[in-house]
Amino acid sequence: MAFNHLSIRNLMLFGLLILSGVDDISGTTGSTLKAVSMLFRHGDRSPTMSYPLDPYHDYPWPGGYGALSPRGFNELFGSGLIKSTRYSSLLSINCDTDATCTMDLDKILVLSSAIQRCVDSVQSFLNGFVRVDWPSSLVNVIPQDQDEMLAAPGKPCPKYEDIITTGVGFDEPEFKTIIDFESTEGQELLDYLQNNTGLTMDSPIILLLLEDTLLIEKDNNLQLPAWTDSVFEQYLVPLTSAFFDISGSSEYTKIRSSALFRDMTTRLDNLIAGSDDQNILLYSAHDATVAGMLHFLEVRDQTVARPTYAASINVELHENQDIVDDYEVKLIYFASYDDQNPIEIDIPDCQAPCPYKLFKSNIQPRLTPDYETACSQ
Ligand SMILES: *[C@@H]1O[C@H](CO)[C@@H](O)[C@H](O)[C@H]1NC(C)=O
Repeated sequence: MAFNHLSIRNLMLFGLLILSGVDDISGTTGSTLKAVSMLFRHGDRSPTMSYPLDPYHDYPWPGGYGALSPRGFNELFGSGLIKSTRYSSLLSINCDTDATCTMDLDKILVLSSAIQRCVDSVQSFLNGFVRVDWPSSLVNVIPQDQDEMLAAPGKPCPKYEDIITTGVGFDEPEFKTIIDFESTEGQELLDYLQNNTGLTMDSPIILLLLEDTLLIEKDNNLQLPAWTDSVFEQYLVPLTSAFFDISGSSEYTKIRSSALFRDMTTRLDNLIAGSDDQNILLYSAHDATVAGMLHFLEVRDQTVARPTYAASINVELHENQDIVDDYEVKLIYFASYDDQNPIEIDIPDCQAPCPYKLFKSNIQPRLTPDYETACSQ
């Protein structure tokens, strides 16, 4: 299987990025890396909605609303390239004399949210990450009605899922430091937004959806209407951050993060036990998925409320001679698709080198019961 033309063109686009010295943590003297799990957000996308008085109501977004944009495809390709350098020791590439390369793809597990932009994102990521042809069956898409961990709302969770629709109220304390919706000023802000957008401001989720649409229009060089000047940076942006913190720390998100954490650690445990040999786990998901995991791991204070496009939280297992009969865990946060200097997060209550077993046992008490049980009324 040869490198295809698309890859070569993109390789050239991102060539500088690689040449400018991305860390290859495997080094040359033999790798310490045993496995990696990556949970990342999809790339740049179009808005998921318009609003009644939107001057760009009929804007021809490529792929329609909520689609991965051409820029998004490139971001994930670039992200894949950066990770292929960092994790080269786990990618067993074999090239023969005519430079035809193959790779053992069985070692890679790919799970994607069923939302198309996530599927497109991880496909583009793989093009950059493995750079050999790979079968479409490599990407496992979790049907939304069975999804306990990547796309929300996924599998029904009657007891809690209203958190993402009506569950966050205007009276949440996190909003009060930005504006008090129970004050006259707060009411005026909502009236002002309602008057200028034509949206009914009956729930904070509307603020988030509006902010997201405006942000993306701005990102695409569409001039925002003048009424946004007084409210966008001052209110909508910080209120959206606060919304992510509220929903990211909710019981519903905790249940979903628990399911994801269980999935990941079960697979790593099987690898360590020798009953499975997949050592690269890819989870393609959403801002809310990554944000939820940052809260769940209690590392939100070292990162962000709302992860940007293609941001990735990676769990790495390393051999470490100071740790007997176990592996060292490193938590690495890539803040964006082109982040070449990701931060190594201080793992709460586990001093570096943090043993994998201690990492898991610290989190054990925080795990919710399984999805079905936790979600039943
Ligand atoms: C919203 O529109 C109503 C009706 O036109 C008007 O009375 C009110 O002052 C407006 N409020 C704001 C904050 O713009």
